[in-house]
Amino acid sequence: MTLSAEIITNPSNRLTYMEPIKGDAHGKNLLSMYQLSDKDIYDYIKEAKAAETILRDPSRRGVTLLPHYVLKAVMRQPSTRTGGSMTTAMEKLGGSAQLISGMGSSSEAKGESLADSWAAFATQADILGIRTAEDEGPAFAAQAIATAAERGSLLNLVPVINLGDGRNEHPTQALGDMFTIYKKFGSFEGLTATVVGDQERYRAHHSFMIGAVALGMSIRAVESPAALVPPALVEQLGDSLTRTDDLDEAMRAADVLYLGRNPDEYAGDDSQEKLRSKQLARDYASWIVDYDRIQQMSPDSIVLHPRPRRDELHPSVDTDPRMKDVEQMANMIPMRMAIIARHLGKSIAKSL
Ligand code: MLT
Repeated sequence: MTLSAEIITNPSNRLTYMEPIKGDAHGKNLLSMYQLSDKDIYDYIKEAKAAETILRDPSRRGVTLLPHYVLKAVMRQPSTRTGGSMTTAMEKLGGSAQLISGMGSSSEAKGESLADSWAAFATQADILGIRTAEDEGPAFAAQAIATAAERGSLLNLVPVINLGDGRNEHPTQALGDMFTIYKKFGSFEGLTATVVGDQERYRAHHSFMIGAVALGMSIRAVESPAALVPPALVEQLGDSLTRTDDLDEAMRAADVLYLGRNPDEYAGDDSQEKLRSKQLARDYASWIVDYDRIQQMSPDSIVLHPRPRRDELHPSVDTDPRMKDVEQMANMIPMRMAIIARHLGKSIAKSL
């Protein structure tokens, strides 16, 4: 985590392509949850609620808000949910969408620079969703596109939506998570979320924690000494963050239990990294949430997981009423409709 609220809000900083949303998302990139205030998050939720109303109406199933608009979702890392739900969301808004997976068929294979590839994609789309293995890859793309636009070579400035950048952030996931929490509790203030897993490298955790704290929630982070909450995030979350190694106590305190898989694709292969991987594997084995373990949680609490899951969320919990992970996945469509619409300057709520 190298991003911070200070980087984003400091006007003298060159990273102006990461400006605060401040009530107006039109034309802006969505790269980090640090760009959003609590009010901004509520604005996305309001639009997602309107999108859901339309999707549930069998006579509509979508809305023609963005005819002739084009989305490209460029996924440079594997994805089952995020890329596909972005394209579905765009099509439900009446636009067209293309999912590009991996870079094998792009001109990078012919030696094109990444910056040039991003500028090329920007000439073909009205909005870009980008996933990269590198931290801040979408921010790099936004900068490359802004530089190309300064030369007057683009029709318009194409907003970049971060669909997961390495070990850094996953803001669209976090907004869908917040929508899921809102649908259950109707508000956020005073709720406690227990977040379990590799706190250092799991991007969904980072964005979730930033969003939850902006909305007045408290976080209990269950940590392994091998993968601690990054120091910059600890500083940003301040008193809203409690760090613990006691999963069971933290589950009993939770209104929301937020799990994630071991992101072991980022593990290095030197001897220190191998030791860390072993420690993490042991920790994940001790954190398995199964039917018996979930019983200690409040009957009013909920369990979220951005998926894909491995052993950390045992299938014996699947029919427990606290499980909201499938609903969470479904909520990503209206939320991503809300994100696309807002960043293209449209309102779904106004078309109700
Ligand atoms: C992602 O961040 O790509 C997924 O949504 C979560 C994961 O990779 O485990």
